[in-house]
Amino acid sequence: MVPETFMNSTSEILIVGGGIIGLAIAVDLQLRGAKVTLLVRDIAQAASRAAAGMLAPHAEGIPPGPFLELCLQSRWLYPEWIRKIEDLTGINTGYYPCGILAPVYELDQPVTTEEVNKIWLDSNAVHLYQPGLGKDVVGGWWYPDDGQVDNRQLVTVLQQAAENLGVEIRQGVEVHAIQQKQGKVKSIYTSIGELEAKIYILAAGSWASQLLPLPIHPVKGQMAAVKMPPNQTLARVLFGPQTYLVPRRNGRLIIGATSEKVAWQTGNTPQGLQTLFARATRLYPPLADWEIEEMWWGFRPGTADELPILGRSSCDNLILATGHYRNGILLAPVTASLIADLVINDKVNPILTHFSCDRFNQPSPVTIPPMSLTIIENKPQALLSPQNDRLTIAGKTFHSRLMTGTGKYANLTTMQESISASECQIVTVAVRRVQTNAPGHEGLAEAIDWSKIWMLPNTAGCQTAEEAVRVARLGREMAKLLGQEDNNFIKLEVIPDPKYLLPDPIGTLQAAEQLVKEGFAVLPYINADPLLAKRLEEAGCATVMPLGSPIGSGQGLKNEANIAIIIESSQIPVVVDAGIGTPSEAARAMEMGADALLINSAIAMAANPAMMAQAMAMAAKAGRLAYLAGRMPIKSYASPSSPLTGTIA
Ligand code: FAD
Ligand code: GLY
Repeated sequence: MVPETFMNSTSEILIVGGGIIGLAIAVDLQLRGAKVTLLVRDIAQAASRAAAGMLAPHAEGIPPGPFLELCLQSRWLYPEWIRKIEDLTGINTGYYPCGILAPVYELDQPVTTEEVNKIWLDSNAVHLYQPGLGKDVVGGWWYPDDGQVDNRQLVTVLQQAAENLGVEIRQGVEVHAIQQKQGKVKSIYTSIGELEAKIYILAAGSWASQLLPLPIHPVKGQMAAVKMPPNQTLARVLFGPQTYLVPRRNGRLIIGATSEKVAWQTGNTPQGLQTLFARATRLYPPLADWEIEEMWWGFRPGTADELPILGRSSCDNLILATGHYRNGILLAPVTASLIADLVINDKVNPILTHFSCDRFNQPSPVTIPPMSLTIIENKPQALLSPQNDRLTIAGKTFHSRLMTGTGKYANLTTMQESISASECQIVTVAVRRVQTNAPGHEGLAEAIDWSKIWMLPNTAGCQTAEEAVRVARLGREMAKLLGQEDNNFIKLEVIPDPKYLLPDPIGTLQAAEQLVKEGFAVLPYINADPLLAKRLEEAGCATVMPLGSPIGSGQGLKNEANIAIIIESSQIPVVVDAGIGTPSEAARAMEMGADALLINSAIAMAANPAMMAQAMAMAAKAGRLAYLAGRMPIKSYASPSSPLTGTIA
């Protein structure tokens, strides 16, 4: 992956994010001869500084499997990794392999004590081993190999190590957008201008989903620290039910942590602290009287399946190292080593397959009705199987190739029934009409289950590029408010002409260029103009959406020849939008090789919208299968269906 010249450090690597993950990778890469620049908006806001620093694969209760394996590998790497960083800087990191005791309040399963790294202590033993435990403690597990590190100190030392090695750390620099073109990152837009590199690494923790559509969300944790009296210092970490106490060697006791899905709500709250202290004092009552030193909070980078996202992305030169959720401090050494191997040696450790971002694009249950497929010799079955046929837009994958809208329905119930019958996964919504609660749009946003449907905000009603850019930004906020934190899609419509509703090509291109810079996945609605489609693709749009005929006209595909050229010359998905009136026209567009369809009026204005939605869904699938199957050649003369040889005279 990395060209030869890279090793002579003529090329550079840009890392976005200066938490423990970005810093650890920077140090590893620089040690292997790379030239690294690291951009960080604010080191103080990093979860890496807010954490408790436990190295706790066992105490965290991670079930056996690849993730536990990854965590154990990292814990095993820790002592040597720490020695390396301390040697580079001469500063102590506060690494402390003190073991973790995990007291329990309930005995819910028979206890076995056979594993060497896991020892069961019954009620007497646990209270003897750790005096002062709460009366509710009825036993506990002792994990001698788990431990802790002073994560704040470690981040400071890592930063020093990186600087000593020559990593250029640019603090206070915010990355606004990642510009992608034809499967590669071309540059990034930052608060200090546009920057280019050969390889980009995204290690932006919880904020990664603001730059790419990744399923990462913040999980807030509130924390506190108290001062241990000199005669009562704890000697090991206590990890109780929903709480933990981490004694540092300097007499500070870290108390953690709440786990709250409250989006980006900052600050400590009375409710959060009350919960925190109640759980902590139940586990270890003596601390109730100890002096509070500090209270803080942080955002864990949570993912949809609570596993990290590591490895390549849909762009060749963009590597992902994020989503470490509750265990980023523990996972720093292994992450740095795996990512450096990937970047420098193009070596994909097999364990990475479990943490690839591709796992979020796996097929969901197929909704296509059973049908028998004839497998044509020499054609791979995978090509013909609807199960393997997916639509990918800006790195996000869908099994349905039919998109619908929300306009023109007689009522919300009909709309809901139609969306469901269409089996679509993408629904476009007019930002302006929803924001202003225009007639027919009251309560519309709430009427759709956005945990199942991907929102495609559109800029309908915008007559100029400037208006469209402004409305697109509102659209992104709207998607976020409705729970789609990582949604950066926008259907771009710039339509100055109210009679034919034809889009303005120049305004559309101008707005598209700006929105791509701002990190949007832009899906522009255009006249079927092949040259414009090419220019939009070059500008970095995620799709092009040529119209079949004017919006809402139901005239069908009036410009097939141009659509065919666009399909032939596009590297990005082509979505035929507007004008389709019947399922046969929908199927026709798909047979031609369109990647998807957007159909609203033909469904909403049918006598029975839900039934028409179902018909359109079937037509989209039939057309797609026909396209994949390959139609028979057209001949000038008849050719009998039955062979003429071997007939009975
Ligand atoms: P972060 O540390 O969050 O760093 C991300 C950095 O990226 C930030 O500095 C941010 O400013 C920067 N950034 C983001 N967006 C941009 C942008 N657009 N431009 C420029 N810079 C940007 N893990 C453990 O292993 N053990 C524990 O005991 C533990 N306890 C925890 C307790 C709490 C309360 C919390 C919140 C987390 C805890 N964790 C723990 C989890 C661990 O802290 C995280 O998994 C880890 O810190 C993630 O590191 P990171 O470098 O990916 O992200
Ligand atoms: N790993 C501890 C926490 O995330 O709170």
